[in-house]
Amino acid sequence: MVDFTLTDEQKDLRELAHSFAEKEVRPVAWKLDKEGTWPGEIIEKAWEIGLLNTHIEEAYGGPGLDYLTGTIIEEEFGWGCSGVGTSLACNGLATAPIALGGSEETKKRYLGMLTEEPKLASFCLTEPDAGSDVSGMKTTAVRKGDEYVINGSKCFITNGSHASYYTVYAKTDKDAGHKGISAFVVDRDLDGVTVDKKEDKLGQRASNTATISFNDVVIPAANLLAEENHGFKLAMMTLDRTRPGVAAMAVGIARAAFEFATGYSKERVQFGVPIAMHQAIQFMIADMATKIEAARLMTWKSAVLLDQGQRNTLVSSHAKRFAADTAMEVTTDAVQVYGGYGFIKDYPVEKLMRDAKIMQLYEGTSQIQRLVIAREVLMPRRDPDPAPSAPVVQETAGVVA
Ligand code: CAA
Repeated sequence: MVDFTLTDEQKDLRELAHSFAEKEVRPVAWKLDKEGTWPGEIIEKAWEIGLLNTHIEEAYGGPGLDYLTGTIIEEEFGWGCSGVGTSLACNGLATAPIALGGSEETKKRYLGMLTEEPKLASFCLTEPDAGSDVSGMKTTAVRKGDEYVINGSKCFITNGSHASYYTVYAKTDKDAGHKGISAFVVDRDLDGVTVDKKEDKLGQRASNTATISFNDVVIPAANLLAEENHGFKLAMMTLDRTRPGVAAMAVGIARAAFEFATGYSKERVQFGVPIAMHQAIQFMIADMATKIEAARLMTWKSAVLLDQGQRNTLVSSHAKRFAADTAMEVTTDAVQVYGGYGFIKDYPVEKLMRDAKIMQLYEGTSQIQRLVIAREVLMPRRDPDPAPSAPVVQETAGVVA
């Protein structure tokens, strides 16, 4: 049975997230964008009312919400301002590898840290020469007794300047390609950790994007996530879990642009009638509505599969790709509906068009999503669904369990 009825709890949380986006985010969103200001106070408020760390299990102080509810909340964040939304959602990306591959002690310490105080964590995968090609990373982690020594540099790290710790991917076997990558938790205040560069971006200018360098950083071996050399799969399993949220944020951006465009089309008069009466505009509005509806359905499906304990790689990439492209197309058309005014910063939609662009880039470009989709369609893997809360990632005959 397919049932699109939300539970009362999901409706309440959607209302809470919408009201937060409307009252706390929207009034300052365009100012934050203009000034490139990071929304620290908004993040604290979200933490206070329980809109941060929504997937952290109750055992570690979180609400342990399911993935579908997470996407419903993230759509509202995207509707409010996706720059702020990305800042709010970032802990989810950083903590997923801990939830999947951390020991009980690591989970208590690092997941608990975020639920006890309004602290942040960042996910450090990308490097200057290793973006789409994760296996090309150069950061190394060398085991020395009960410790690892980490050296390297990670770029485009969301909340990087403000995180208390990082989940870092590094080569533990330089010659083994993706089978030589491991994942670690690295505390921010350790010697050798530096925040090097804050990016000045086209869109999502409220979010913080930094370069983080690790220079002979010594961490306890206990901070290894999953087994040594299983970090690549941990990263892929993490992205399977977070791409539905990115897709939801893209739906939120598109919905915001759609609302602005429809509102404006009913007010703007040309040739003696509101432009909404012209078929040229009506067809654009109709296509926007259809794409948003389809993107949301794919997004929800990708989350529901996770909630059912099924592998969602294919649908997650469908959702992320389609929703990101939808956000780009709908915001571009919203600017078109506004005409010349859409191009001017006094009007709201040019920001949304700039914000939408990153949805086609981060957490896997639209081209990488197509690559995943093509592989899943043409050469489907036969492995069973991974256990979402497995304490370690184990390899059994090519199976991620
Ligand atoms: N779940 C479990 N295992 C998976 C998997 C998944 N979803 N996807 C792949 N694997 C396994 C494969 O089965 C394979 O296993 P075996 O070794 O047993 O054969 C192994 O991982 C290697 O897989 P591939 O051969 O497919 O690896 P690849 O090198 O060709 O890369 C890729 C595949 C899809 C291109 C991948 O590298 C990828 O997703 N790249 C994009 C990276 C990305 O999204 N970066 C975003 C960074 S985060 C960010 O942007 C947030 C921010 O803060 C800005």
